[in-house]
Amino acid sequence: MQQNKFYITTPIYYVNDVPHIGHAYTTIAADVVARYKRLEGVEVFFLTGTDEHGQKVQQAANDVGVSPQEHVDKLHQRFKELWVRLNISNNDFIRTTEERHKKLVRDILQELHSRDEIYRDSYEGWYCTPCERFWTEKDLAEGNCPECQRKVDKIKEHNYFFRMGKYQQWLIDRIKNDPHFILPASRKNEVLGFLEKPLEDLCISRPKSRLAWGIPLPFDGDYVTYVWFDALINYISIHGSLDDIKASGFWPADHNMVGKDILTTHAVYWSTMLKAIGLEPPKNIFAHGWWTVNGQKMSKSLQNVVEPNQLIDQFGVDVIRYFLLREVPFGQDGDFSHKALIGRLNSDLANNLGNLLNRTVNMMEKYFAGVVPTPATNGPEDKALTEKSGEVIAEVRILYNELAYNKILQKIWELVDTTNQYIDKTGPWNLAKTDEGKERLKTVMYNSAESLRVLGVLLNPFMPQSTESLMKQLGIEAPIAEQGMKSINQWGGLKPGSQTQKAKQLFPRIEDKQAAQILTELSSPKEEKKDNGNQITIDEFMKVELRTGKILEAEKVKKSKKLIQLKVDIGTETRQVLAGISESYEPEDLVGRTVIIVANLKPAKLMGIESQGMVLAASNDGNIILAGFDQEPGQGVQVR
Ligand code: MSP
Repeated sequence: MQQNKFYITTPIYYVNDVPHIGHAYTTIAADVVARYKRLEGVEVFFLTGTDEHGQKVQQAANDVGVSPQEHVDKLHQRFKELWVRLNISNNDFIRTTEERHKKLVRDILQELHSRDEIYRDSYEGWYCTPCERFWTEKDLAEGNCPECQRKVDKIKEHNYFFRMGKYQQWLIDRIKNDPHFILPASRKNEVLGFLEKPLEDLCISRPKSRLAWGIPLPFDGDYVTYVWFDALINYISIHGSLDDIKASGFWPADHNMVGKDILTTHAVYWSTMLKAIGLEPPKNIFAHGWWTVNGQKMSKSLQNVVEPNQLIDQFGVDVIRYFLLREVPFGQDGDFSHKALIGRLNSDLANNLGNLLNRTVNMMEKYFAGVVPTPATNGPEDKALTEKSGEVIAEVRILYNELAYNKILQKIWELVDTTNQYIDKTGPWNLAKTDEGKERLKTVMYNSAESLRVLGVLLNPFMPQSTESLMKQLGIEAPIAEQGMKSINQWGGLKPGSQTQKAKQLFPRIEDKQAAQILTELSSPKEEKKDNGNQITIDEFMKVELRTGKILEAEKVKKSKKLIQLKVDIGTETRQVLAGISESYEPEDLVGRTVIIVANLKPAKLMGIESQGMVLAASNDGNIILAGFDQEPGQGVQVR
């Protein structure tokens, strides 16, 4: 029996990151399954969102002189906007700073604490601030964080712990007994390997004195919740209280889709958290691979981050959606190149699918004035085509269970190729020459168009925009969502008498000369300078009032690890400014120094103290260097 509710999630993205194709990849993959299931008539809930608490957010907000809440209210929009451009059909967007989320996190903490699943203990260990994770001595890689290789600090403090360790055997059994639980199988084995070592309890708190930007523990206001414990709960907080979740029919989720880097947190932390709460783990956690660019990891410093908005502008949204899922088997790593993308666009989309549509619609116009004829005959070629269609539909349905996107697309292209061959073999241009041939021609043209209709439905989850346009060209006005997969269960759904409509090519070919030009543009450093939405005009820049100022006083802000409170003389007045520089500068070294101040920044309160400006500094891996001058310019001088 067909399951009638389906729940799929993406990870919630760190709000600080600029969205790139890695983020787009997970989201598009989840979107395709969500769209497919809806076409099957299933009630789908598809969730994505942003992860908005933690050290990095607090730090970044500090750096720009705004409150963390203001910061995340602004930044999360970049993800929302990109998902609209990429035609992502999510049913909701969860932000971890929303009250509906925070409430469930607090309720779960309270419940687990009252059941002694969470306890207080003293802890000594090595802490990596950027990763916000504790490590034991033996975890360290040559004394550094094993994950990011940066320096770690020895910390001794009281914290709260979730009794994760006691679920170790349960988890091992669960993974071993359910082959569908963690996929692909190779990743499942990695998790089992990880579980061979004793599983320790999980530290789920951070002292507020070190990190204020988090959900306060309901049973101890001196602590906030560890960001992963908070974030993972997003998958259920969307459905309300624990009782609401059970009643919603959307838990356990069908797929928690994640990248390979965050499989452990999901397979181990998340599953055991759910077990303790009394909920089932998700039916499946699928870990996909990572995209590199020309063999290298994407990173801002290498300037090789592939920006999806730019790709959409250049190639169109459906080409990107198609390429990312066709190029690499889901689960494996892949290398992104614009050249490969252009190659796929030209061959699969323009030459094969696009050409099939063009010639069918053109011949329909030429031989039948655009009116779809009633099929008249039934020969062996027709039978072979309809059988192929049936086989492809059946296999695609099975392949969706494995999230084997590239195989699904390969399979669908078998129907594209078979239909092109059908036209070549039957030769409509010859049939049109004789009266007997004209009868046969009706069937051939009908079947070619019908096959395209089937392709339109099958490809709709991957290319929602282009397939709607394909349907219109065939004379079908009803949206594909209304037609559904059931409309292709039987051959012959296209109504004779429909009026085809010639339109512009769905996927124009990129000729060699143009391709060379695009490749040079995209791969040259100029790419950075192109207006990709980040650029500002000189007038906009001039709105920022930069002035020199002399530091008169400096003192550390109590309870803050980073902030120093400064009194700065900016010529016309003295300003109180907070700067997150205390890890790199001592207050006494700052007095008398000339710095650059953003003088017209809206005042903001940090830790209850008003900051009336911002000091410019370079920040390199946590090392802060104040911007300055090689000669003394004097106070209140404009900087341009
Ligand atoms: N906030 C956490 C997830 C919390 S879920 C409860 C996080 N965020 S992230 O923004 O860093 O990453 C989100 C997803 O993007 C992860 O699944 C990650 O694997 C994916 N990708 C980030 N870079 C990627 C590539 N270069 N390639 C493919 N996916 C990548 O982790």
